[in-house]
Amino acid sequence: MKTLLTLCLLVSFLGQAQNFEGFHATMSLQDAKELKKDVPAQVEILKEYRNEAVVYMTEEASHLLHDRVLVHGPGYIFMPSLEAAIEAVEHPRNRARNSLLSFSITEDVAVDAAINVINTQNIENHILELEGYGTRYHTMASATQAAEDLKVKWEDMAASYSRTDVSVRLFNHSGTGMPSVIMTITGAEIPEEFVVVGGHLDSTSSQGNDDAPGADDDASGIATITEAVRALFETNFVPKRTIEVMAYAAEEIGLVGSNEIATQYDNNNVDVIAVGQFDMTNYNGSTNDVSLITDFTSGNLNLFMMNLMDHYNASGEHAITYATSLCNYGCSDHASWTGRGYWSTFPFEANFGQHNGSIHTAGDVYSLSGTAVHATKFAKLCAEFLIEIAKSEGSLGVPDVSVNTTLLVNVNQGVLQYDIQGSSQEFDALQVHDLQGKLVLNKGIETNQGQIALPEMSTGIYVVSLASAQQNSISQKVLVK
Ligand code: BES
Ligand code: ZN
Repeated sequence: MKTLLTLCLLVSFLGQAQNFEGFHATMSLQDAKELKKDVPAQVEILKEYRNEAVVYMTEEASHLLHDRVLVHGPGYIFMPSLEAAIEAVEHPRNRARNSLLSFSITEDVAVDAAINVINTQNIENHILELEGYGTRYHTMASATQAAEDLKVKWEDMAASYSRTDVSVRLFNHSGTGMPSVIMTITGAEIPEEFVVVGGHLDSTSSQGNDDAPGADDDASGIATITEAVRALFETNFVPKRTIEVMAYAAEEIGLVGSNEIATQYDNNNVDVIAVGQFDMTNYNGSTNDVSLITDFTSGNLNLFMMNLMDHYNASGEHAITYATSLCNYGCSDHASWTGRGYWSTFPFEANFGQHNGSIHTAGDVYSLSGTAVHATKFAKLCAEFLIEIAKSEGSLGVPDVSVNTTLLVNVNQGVLQYDIQGSSQEFDALQVHDLQGKLVLNKGIETNQGQIALPEMSTGIYVVSLASAQQNSISQKVLVK
């Protein structure tokens, strides 16, 4: 029945479109409407989906588009059929996954303000408060109580800064009686695009689940994201995109809460463009501060995290050092999002194996870590992540590299060929990093397409990134043999 209906709709769309000879395409809804005004007889808007449109237009109309200066995208994307066009706009994530969305760093003013007000004492207080439940094991009444109390705490925090753009809800699950908690800061300009940060609220102990203080695993993560968001409020940051802050239920029994949430978001086609996971942030076990977990996460987002820390935390009082590490399994809630095709990143407290050895015991208490100084660094990184991906309302639109922009790279006998397709921006710098984040090549370029001789490099996978004069960047992995 549903198929029949879709078919009828398709036929009626096609009917409309057959008044002239043309082709199908997807493009920004705003551009489509402007084009329709200019040449009404040469373009049909067949479907509107969020801020995108499926159109049928003449060759002539498309030339007209090319001649215009488009400020928010590459113009249009040719689609071989109506079905393909509808598929593309209805599943933007799939497209983002295949091409290379990347993010720009433009919000220095907002970020500097926010990271200056991140408060270590607040993080300590919050960890102690959560530890005080004794256990947050998902079946215990105290776990549900902790979720209900966190909802009130977040509501009060938003209210104390008079934030009418914020709401907090409990997300009830089928796999556990404990609810998750979700705070939503509705985006002022692009509310349909989401940036998520989260951590798990539940705890566990192999010595008996009635004594599972879970101070590091993961009261620290909840305290970290809460303080990051408080800093956003204190500095009056209003996001363009929607921000969601999540305290997941029942992570410890197999990512139950985050899986149900990611599944629901996927089924509802919620356009989550990036997810940050904060699970264990307060034990300083390695020489580097942050270990970016590179399995079950997005390489592009991890690279963006490195770019953030290079930009904001290279030295001085906000300095953060980083390395990469592996969990070797889907060890926390980021894996739920990754499993649904969303892009996630997981900055972790230490290299795997050097992390807090007291987790999952009655000994996972705050006093073991001394202060919340380590978690403070993660709160800064969290604020940077949220601000740079959600962007400030009214920030002078440096256009993000479109999700439709593609970077093709190839290495052959020591020569790197690159080709950026689908972008009107001019790219002027090319960098190559190894997977540990070490810069191996930094070169100026003059065209969006070209080739560069590589220095002597050992065999392996590298990340090639190109930056535009508009401060955007796009990256792609390449195998050097
Ligand atoms: N915080 C841990 C994950 C973790 C532990 C990451 C040590 C890195 C080092 C998380 O709460 C957890 O315990 N995860 C489970 C797996 C999950 C699928 C139940 C684990 O690691 O056993
Ligand atoms: Zn755990």
